[in-house]
Amino acid sequence: MKIPEEILIYGQDILSSPGMLRGKELVHHGRTCRYRHSLNVAAVSLRLCRWLSIPARRRDMVRGALLHDYYLYDRRAERKKNHLRSHAQTAHANAAADFTLSPVEEDVIRHHMFPITPRPPRSREGIIVCVADKIATFGELLGLKAFLR
Ligand SMILES: [Fe+2]
Ligand SMILES: [Fe+2]
Repeated sequence: MKIPEEILIYGQDILSSPGMLRGKELVHHGRTCRYRHSLNVAAVSLRLCRWLSIPARRRDMVRGALLHDYYLYDRRAERKKNHLRSHAQTAHANAAADFTLSPVEEDVIRHHMFPITPRPPRSREGIIVCVADKIATFGELLGLKAFLR
């Protein structure tokens, strides 16, 4: 199965939700919108699992990756204090309000900013997404589209 298909199977409801669709209008890194960044993190997570043969609960991992930055405000317009440290908790609260989250999905979202926030993820899926978020961010800043999709 191709990676975009696998993401759709697990996360179609998330991708078509109003909160996620709003992310198409929000710049995230460089020229990448938040919607695209969320897809990139899910894709890199799945790719890491394939390359390194890591067994993971892929549905939870993909859904957590899609929701990891579900903080819904425009950080350029609002300039929140402590955005880097606080947005994972905001994303978790918003995601919990809009979707039914599994414990693994909660871990993925809440701890994806490690080591900027002190608590590391507890689940394997949380660790994978935490790493994939950094890789996707570098790829976006450098414009490496082929690597991300
Ligand atoms: Fe984040
Ligand atoms: Fe992110």
